[in-house]
Amino acid sequence: MAKIISIANQKGGVGKTTTAINLAAGLAKAGRTTLVVDIDPQCNATSGLGVEPALRHPLVAGQPIGESIVATTQDRLRVLPGSHSLTDADALSASNRERASSLRRQLNTELSEIDYIFLDCPPSLGQLTRAALAAAHEVYIPIQCEYFAMEGLSQIIELARQSKARDNHRLEIGGIVLTMYDPELELSNEVAAEVRGYFAETVFESLIPRDVHISESPSHGLSVLDYAPRARGARAYTELVMEVIDRE
Ligand SMILES: Nc1ncnc2c1ncn2[C@@H]1O[C@H](COP(=O)(O)OP(=O)(O)O)[C@@H](O)[C@H]1O
Ligand SMILES: [Mg+2]
Repeated sequence: MAKIISIANQKGGVGKTTTAINLAAGLAKAGRTTLVVDIDPQCNATSGLGVEPALRHPLVAGQPIGESIVATTQDRLRVLPGSHSLTDADALSASNRERASSLRRQLNTELSEIDYIFLDCPPSLGQLTRAALAAAHEVYIPIQCEYFAMEGLSQIIELARQSKARDNHRLEIGGIVLTMYDPELELSNEVAAEVRGYFAETVFESLIPRDVHISESPSHGLSVLDYAPRARGARAYTELVMEVIDRE
């Protein structure tokens, strides 16, 4: 059975999509068949993996999900493409308890050969993120090592707590990922220390540095692991992958 992990934070630009793509790519390299499910109408995860967005979102188009899965240039790494259709985003988010559990059932039964499924969420606490939390086993929360990081964190954690209480009793906070870390900046170190102080081992040890190779790689349709395997950013994501595997 696949492990379903939602990558969520209501703030934009914190590294959700980047973390979804690179964790998925790293796990695929480690022999895990991995699927990125793009539920953000911006479709950044889809295009960042070199795949065209779909006209209709595969989760609401009424066809078996398996038929809509697209292979990437990397072995074992697949995408369920997002769609720019806002009508489909509405349909996808018109979610209730039944729909969320059916999404999880659909993902698990139709995709039995998949080991990991990452749901790349949009930057909001709205219905799409709620639906993704309701369908997941775990949520990973990327946060930027910057001043308002902690403030935003409490809101997404509260949403996860609500989801666990209401419609997904098994949901766990699988980990907090510190992104865009800059060791030269006092603030970056302070934020990292503060987050670890509150959330202890929920925070992954690996610090994802700010690295231009990470931001360049999506325009080539590649993970940073393939685009610039020796870059600091690639090493950091590889370490993060090891931690995820250690938690299996
Ligand atoms: N560690 C990093 N170093 C440099 N640029 C990054 C890093 N992580 C993300 N980026 C860039 O920052 C922008 C926002 O990241 P993204 O993953 O799209 O955030 P989100 O999905 O949370 O909105 C993108 O242009 C991305 O390429
Ligand atoms: Mg994104």
